[in-house]
Amino acid sequence: MIKKSKESFSLAIHGGAGGTIKKARESETVVKQTLHDILERGRTILARGGSSIDAVTSCVGMLEDCPLFNAGYGAVSNSAGQYELDAAIMDGKTLKAGAVAAVLNVKNPVDLARLVMEKTPHILLSGKGAIAFAKMQNVPMVTQKYFKDAQEKASSLIDKNKKHGTVGAVARDLKGNLAAATSTGGWGAKMPGRIGDSPLIGAGNFANNDSGAISCTGIGEHFIRTVLAGYIGFLIERENMDASEAAMAALIRLTEKFKGEGGFIVVDKNGYIAAAQTTKIMRCGWIEHGGEIHVTLQETLRIPKT
Ligand code: GLY
Ligand code: GLY
Repeated sequence: MIKKSKESFSLAIHGGAGGTIKKARESETVVKQTLHDILERGRTILARGGSSIDAVTSCVGMLEDCPLFNAGYGAVSNSAGQYELDAAIMDGKTLKAGAVAAVLNVKNPVDLARLVMEKTPHILLSGKGAIAFAKMQNVPMVTQKYFKDAQEKASSLIDKNKKHGTVGAVARDLKGNLAAATSTGGWGAKMPGRIGDSPLIGAGNFANNDSGAISCTGIGEHFIRTVLAGYIGFLIERENMDASEAAMAALIRLTEKFKGEGGFIVVDKNGYIAAAQTTKIMRCGWIEHGGEIHVTLQETLRIPKT
């Protein structure tokens, strides 16, 4: 295998595993074009020497602002009709992390997660405390109607009933530093207060320069039980696997032992990328070692859930 570890950057993003893409050709084109445009923006940051943390923050922020995905603007509501959002970010160089859980009215939860990482000694803030911190930091706040409007806006393009569609980004910058960010509205009609895998470091999101950066999507409970993002990092660091080998091993663990459902993206410490899923659909794309943009809705490693 050719190692191109020093001189290039790598970036992968996802817009969730599971659900369906509406049959209309138009919707598939819009999702693919959106992922493509976001990868282009990420490339601009990384190619000029920007950090992996800035790249994943920016890519996840753009995914949050898009009504097509279940995060930020496009998030699904809980059983009480409220939009409670989860997000996390991790810096593979410092191993610092920040996350927010079940926050209401925060426009971009990934930005708040980053502020938790950078400005507090803590990793995870939830509920009212997270909102008080958001106000203190002057992060943009919106009304619940903002999220409701997004559902209407996207209804011609995506399944109204979408319960999947978590978003995430993983990157390796020109200095070899890794980062991962993930954001979600969780399950449609979830119980109020339910927190998924996305804001839990090691479950839905993880980054370590000695291993890889990982962002997961799917049924959060399955990823919490399998500690999947951390498991993939462990396989790369301790079993000397590359991204694809670790992805396949993690997919086997997720499906065979835990009957889990979902997918994930990985960039390993050498900049190799893998995407894998148990579901038919996963909206994802990547740039490996500064190369071409690749966007797909289903052609990744796949072991269907039995
Ligand atoms: N938020 C601080 C840390 O991750 O250590
Ligand atoms: N994977 C997102 C969630 O279950 O909350």
